Amino acid sequence: MAPTSLIPLALSFLLSVSINPTLPSSLINELNQPPPPDFPAIVSNNCLKDPSLRYCNSAATDITNIYKSTVVARHLCTASNNSDCNLSFAKIDLRSRPKVSPLYLSFAFFWKYCPLSVLSIDLSNNSLDGPFPSDVLQCTQIHSLDISLNKLDGTLPLENFTLLSNLSFLNLSYNHFSEGNIEGIAFFERFNSSSFLHSGLFPGDHHYGFRVTTAILLLIGVLVSVVSVVGCFGWVFVRRPDLLPSFLRRSQKFTLAMLKKSTDGFSEDNLVRRGERGEIYKGRLRGGLEVEIKVQRGRISVESRRAFDEECRVLVQLRHKNLVKVLGWCNQRELRAVVMERMWVCSVEGWLLGSPPWKQRLKVSMGVVEAMCYLQEQRPSVGYDLRTRNVMLTEDNEPLILKFKVLDQNTESTNIYKFGLFLLELVTNKRPHEAFERGEMGLIDWVSMHYPGHEKKVIDEKMKLTSTTYKQIKHTIDIGLACTDLSAGHLPTISHIYSTLRKVVHLL
Ligand SMILES: *[C@@H]1O[C@H](CO)[C@@H](O)[C@H](O)[C@H]1NC(C)=O
Ligand SMILES: *[C@@H]1O[C@H](CO)[C@@H](O)[C@H](O)[C@H]1NC(C)=O
Ligand SMILES: *[C@@H]1O[C@H](CO)[C@@H](O)[C@H](O)[C@H]1NC(C)=O
Ligand SMILES: *[C@@H]1O[C@H](CO)[C@@H](O)[C@H](O)[C@H]1NC(C)=O
Ligand SMILES: *[C@@H]1O[C@H](CO)[C@@H](O)[C@H](O)[C@H]1NC(C)=O
Ligand SMILES: *[C@@H]1O[C@H](CO)[C@@H](O)[C@H](O)[C@H]1NC(C)=O
Ligand SMILES: *[C@@H]1O[C@H](CO)[C@@H](O)[C@H](O)[C@H]1NC(C)=O
Repeated sequence: MAPTSLIPLALSFLLSVSINPTLPSSLINELNQPPPPDFPAIVSNNCLKDPSLRYCNSAATDITNIYKSTVVARHLCTASNNSDCNLSFAKIDLRSRPKVSPLYLSFAFFWKYCPLSVLSIDLSNNSLDGPFPSDVLQCTQIHSLDISLNKLDGTLPLENFTLLSNLSFLNLSYNHFSEGNIEGIAFFERFNSSSFLHSGLFPGDHHYGFRVTTAILLLIGVLVSVVSVVGCFGWVFVRRPDLLPSFLRRSQKFTLAMLKKSTDGFSEDNLVRRGERGEIYKGRLRGGLEVEIKVQRGRISVESRRAFDEECRVLVQLRHKNLVKVLGWCNQRELRAVVMERMWVCSVEGWLLGSPPWKQRLKVSMGVVEAMCYLQEQRPSVGYDLRTRNVMLTEDNEPLILKFKVLDQNTESTNIYKFGLFLLELVTNKRPHEAFERGEMGLIDWVSMHYPGHEKKVIDEKMKLTSTTYKQIKHTIDIGLACTDLSAGHLPTISHIYSTLRKVVHLL
């Protein structure tokens, strides 16, 4: 404890004049005073007791700076809300103090003689800009350093960082440091990625160049091991990734040749639909797997191609029994394509023409909500188009959401609105754009006009009703209307819809 108490004792002795210690102006006034005459004697006395104090190695001519450092220490200790600055100055806490933080950082003499009692430094959320304040690293004894939520740039002073041998907490997140040079440095390995979020320093950041280098290194590593382990099979797989077992094919890039082969050269026979944004083909991969391939032709910018890659990387990671599985993609100058597993027999729209029983319709809506919950948890930025034409059905009547897309923001409310429409369509078996002049709005208005009270008028008349299914349908209309009622100000959340619909399923 000796070093902890010595400096503040000296301080309180020196600075018995009472000044508001949190006001920088009083601090500046004090700094302009010369040290009291007996200050050198106090310093040498302290150093006799504890030679490890930082100022003990300094030149005698630096006595003014040592004095000034004790003045700053006293103010900073109080400003940091330490419990007792006479005895201990354990933390420098300047979180969210954008006005005074730069001032304290500017006192080089303070950091040079950083009190040994300081164990934690928090400079986060201060809009600090410019290079990393490397003076701080002279407090080599610290255990904790938080410098997150600033605008620092440039490179980190690596050699001096590694002097912080007792550092166990570090946060450099949310800064603009230049590309990572910390990978592979043992010192930084003790911290996980949450110490470097959006700092510019780590993979997963927005710094593209770094990611490319890592990706290339990774790719070389993977290629070398694949080729050396499986020998000539490795070569076959590199040339024909569609022959790989499916678990290895997860984020597969397809070549144009593979796409042509699986669709008979994009033949008319395999063309499913030609739309504004491109064409959709069905095809069969070498292993026999049926796929659907969404093709977009024409040149696009390098920027857009990069965005396309990013999006596909997300899409291939999505895994849910009620989402169509994206197997991979192809990204070439003249053509982009997304390859999906084609596991369905028809769309919900087509299926409804046969007026399926209510129980099955309810099961389909439950599957869709489960996929929505999954996406909301895993990727809130994925939006989807829930029109009955775009939700497919497997042989076992499991729904599969076919069209989804990575968007810039959380899309929960749009998704919920579309789900409401989807439910109403399941109940009424009416295509909004065919049956109503005002399309979706027409359908919603028509149902709400009859509910509650006359819901029998809107329920698909070809469905057989029992008292249970009738109750279930009424609750479903209720949910559908709540999801589409934009005037209410807020829509129900996906998890709320999920639990309500589950109750409906178990209603007897
Ligand atoms: C300072 O510390 C005291 C006691 O630990 C606490 O009640 C108070 O909220 C703190 N003030 C600030 C600004 O952190
Ligand atoms: C700190 O020391 C000064 C002078 O020695 C004394 O007046 C003051 O009461 C002490 N404060 C605490 C909290 O002990
Ligand atoms: C950052 O500081 C601002 C005020 O400067 C404050 O409103 C905000 O809540 C702080 N954020 C955090 C995460 O501390
Ligand atoms: C780290 O802690 C140990 C044990 O408390 C101490 O001896 C050592 O001086 C500390 N390292 C630094 C750089 O202060
Ligand atoms: C690192 O520390 C050494 C000695 O402590 C100092 O001379 C040098 O200027 C420091 N470098 C940086 C980048 O702060
Ligand atoms: C990262 O480390 C911090 C402590 O420094 C811990 O709270 C957090 O849970 C860790 N996060 C992960 C993803 O391991
Ligand atoms: C670092 O700060 C950011 C922003 O406040 C936070 O999200 C992150 O969890 C922090 N990391 C650690 C290791 O505490």
